[in-house]
Amino acid sequence: MVITIDGPGGVGKSTVAGLVAEALDLPHLETGSTYRAAALATLRRGGDPAAQGDVLEALDAVILSFDNGTVSLDGEGVTTAIRSPEVTAASSAVAVHPRVRERVVDLQRSWLWNRGDSGVVDGRDIGTVVFPDAEVKVYLTATPEVRAARRATDAEAAGMDVSAIAAELAARDHADSTRKASPLHPASDAVVIDTGHLSADQVTEIVLRHVTEAQALTLSSLLAEHNPQVIDLTRTLRAVVRSALPLATEKVNIGWHGLGYHDPDAGYVAGIFPGEGSVKLGFEHGVELPDPEGLLVGDGTQLRYVVIDEWDEKLRDPVTDLLEAAVEYGST
Ligand code: DC
Repeated sequence: MVITIDGPGGVGKSTVAGLVAEALDLPHLETGSTYRAAALATLRRGGDPAAQGDVLEALDAVILSFDNGTVSLDGEGVTTAIRSPEVTAASSAVAVHPRVRERVVDLQRSWLWNRGDSGVVDGRDIGTVVFPDAEVKVYLTATPEVRAARRATDAEAAGMDVSAIAAELAARDHADSTRKASPLHPASDAVVIDTGHLSADQVTEIVLRHVTEAQALTLSSLLAEHNPQVIDLTRTLRAVVRSALPLATEKVNIGWHGLGYHDPDAGYVAGIFPGEGSVKLGFEHGVELPDPEGLLVGDGTQLRYVVIDEWDEKLRDPVTDLLEAAVEYGST
């Protein structure tokens, strides 16, 4: 599942995105850091962030990586360095160039692809341009004064007064929303949340409610669209169980009537089982199984499960097909 959280600077995107990612056990990318890293790479090479060619040259010459909230440039940790006022100003200049944006967006898309196409990504244009098909899109707003008061508590802003920070934020808002390439605005299908009177935890709760709604939708459309003749079985199963993962409650065995999937990267085993009048999806984290194919049939593994009660005609056929195909696959 892809969750995008966009909005202006200082609105609390990365705090909320981090909390949402933690609650759902998903990876998180703060895309502001991708533009900041491009800006730092340009400055270090003596380039001008306002010159598109200089930034592209810098991007060609370095290796940037983003993992677990840390940023590295040619293997050197630059997580703190990209937060300096000089790099902050340069990042706004860098983000204006359309060809630079294309390159940086490629980095953001491959980040997600390398993580199994599932994650929480925050920024300015994530729901509109980078991941327009994301299942959940959120746009956070707050007045410049509210955002400045929040920023004033950041180490980065220590020593500046609130009105100076508000003026800087207003200037960056203007630059971000009036630039030609990917200006800042909510996607038409984004949930807009005014965070002015809400704590980060309250905003997170609202986002998680929308995620739960989207999961129910994703699950039924995945099952309804499933065609075992043409689809990669493990991939489908993985998508189905990932979307239902946070709902898991009790325990069930993978038996011959069900099938399981072991995802060594995500560190869980998952299974899907037909029941009378319901379908069960089961999961367990931290399970290691020697299963090079990733697919398990009837191995007796114990999993927590969730029952999907709406076992109607729409779900019955695709799930039955999926199970039959799995048993066939497991016996060959
Ligand atoms: O969120 P931030 O302050 O770390 O962002 C740094 C700069 O990068 C900011 O001026 C806007 C730009 N940016 C962007 O243009 N698109 C994004 N998706 C994220 C950030």
